[in-house]
Amino acid sequence: MGNRIIKIFDTTLRDGEQSPGASLDAGEKVEIAQQLERLKVDIIEAGFPISSPGDFESVKLVAGNVKNAVVTALARSVQKDIDAAYNSIKKAVAPRIHVFLATSKIHREYKLKKAREEIIKLAVDAVKYARKKVSDVQFSPEDASRTELVFLAKVVEAVIEAGAKTVNIPDTVGYSIPDEFSKVIHYLINNVPNINDAVIAVHCHNDLGLAVANSLTAVVAGAGQVECTINGIGERAGNASLEEVVMSIKTRKDFYKGIKTNIDNRQILKTSKMVSRLTNILVQPNKAIVGSNAFAHESGIHQDGILKKRETYEIIDPKDVGFKESRLVLGKHSGRHAFKEHVKKIGFNLTDEKLEKAFESFKIIADKKKDVFDEDIIAIIEDEISSVPETFILDYLNVTSGSRPNIPTATVRIKKDKEVYQDAACGDGPVDAAYKAIERICKVRVELVDYNIKSVTRGKDALGEVSIKVRSKKKSVFTGRGTSTDIIEASAQAFVNALNKIVSYDKKKSKSDSKI
Ligand code: KIV
Ligand code: ZN
Repeated sequence: MGNRIIKIFDTTLRDGEQSPGASLDAGEKVEIAQQLERLKVDIIEAGFPISSPGDFESVKLVAGNVKNAVVTALARSVQKDIDAAYNSIKKAVAPRIHVFLATSKIHREYKLKKAREEIIKLAVDAVKYARKKVSDVQFSPEDASRTELVFLAKVVEAVIEAGAKTVNIPDTVGYSIPDEFSKVIHYLINNVPNINDAVIAVHCHNDLGLAVANSLTAVVAGAGQVECTINGIGERAGNASLEEVVMSIKTRKDFYKGIKTNIDNRQILKTSKMVSRLTNILVQPNKAIVGSNAFAHESGIHQDGILKKRETYEIIDPKDVGFKESRLVLGKHSGRHAFKEHVKKIGFNLTDEKLEKAFESFKIIADKKKDVFDEDIIAIIEDEISSVPETFILDYLNVTSGSRPNIPTATVRIKKDKEVYQDAACGDGPVDAAYKAIERICKVRVELVDYNIKSVTRGKDALGEVSIKVRSKKKSVFTGRGTSTDIIEASAQAFVNALNKIVSYDKKKSKSDSKI
């Protein structure tokens, strides 16, 4: 394929802004254009100036602020459009006028009501008129991919003859299939005598989800410019996504031998976020390259692989596109390896035994919750490291409660020395009922002096943390803590934790007393 630099023509500010719901004011367009320059796109299509006075002003402002890239504006093949386009970009460092006219049978017959010869004449006149104003003129035969090939070749030859320096082949309605689109480009290269006097560009829409594939196949066939948008936004299902086109070429340089772009890929994420924020179009989490899940791994097998060698499950280094790092999401599919690494990362150094117990608690929580946050893990670990011998273990809890006349009742099962004890009690509320049942089983009398509950994490399935203070018969105060997605269970755990502390304290005390 030889060494070739593919020009990246960004149309986020024109076709991208045609996304339903997206509207950018002049200041926002300039902000994006300046970021597109940092991204090092070659051409910025700033708008369609005849479409509204606001768009005219925006394009003018962008043209005045862009320092290096070519700035282009769209125009139909009529003089008033070309005048507006010229007036909006004439102060640009490198201005280009982009004229278009539909060429397909369906557009000729139903939309334009013009014969083939008229189409060629209008296109040629428009290109000539634009060439009188600027030297850089691009022509697009709209709906090229549904245009009869022989006629398309005639149009392309005529506009190049008239002075177009770039001829763009749009797949306007996203109808093409890669093999077929590649043949269109090959056909033009082989059948348009003056084709080498212009750059062939492609502009693919994503109606069948093939915009990027069609653009890439066209590059292999000989296209020298790809038109695309950030995050793939654009009319209907959008345009080819810049980040996908660029990163495909870069990542598969073994396949696209010698083909490169000028894009600074480390600016990709920043640009994507800016465009999403300013257009109010969210990026789907699983979007290639820039989605929040693009470098996130949940399965234990994948996480283990990533920790051993990132390339086992990642074909792009996330840093290359602007992410800080890959993300190992702790959830129910995660394994020990990722858990251990994460625990270390958030600052805990646990023994193998404690780590194993924390991992077991994590798995129980992860089964109940969609997302396990760092705060959840910290709560689990704190439970593990504040280790008190577990004389009593809460084995089962069932509470019934409701508005009056229901009487809150709790059934509790506690394990002690491999034996299981069960009892039930009524109370003022479900927590009171559970505490009474636990007290009865454990035969430890206490007075509850403080009870606090807080949500450790966010969301409906947040972990609740209950901390309590109880006073023992000997008047000492002990604390107890429990965490669970069920606040009654967390309350019961906190109570059992406090009772275990009392028993442990009493045992230690009687040992030291007997030594005296
Ligand atoms: O999709 C299309 O055909 C266009 C042209 C104006 C290039 O956006
Ligand atoms: Zn388009």
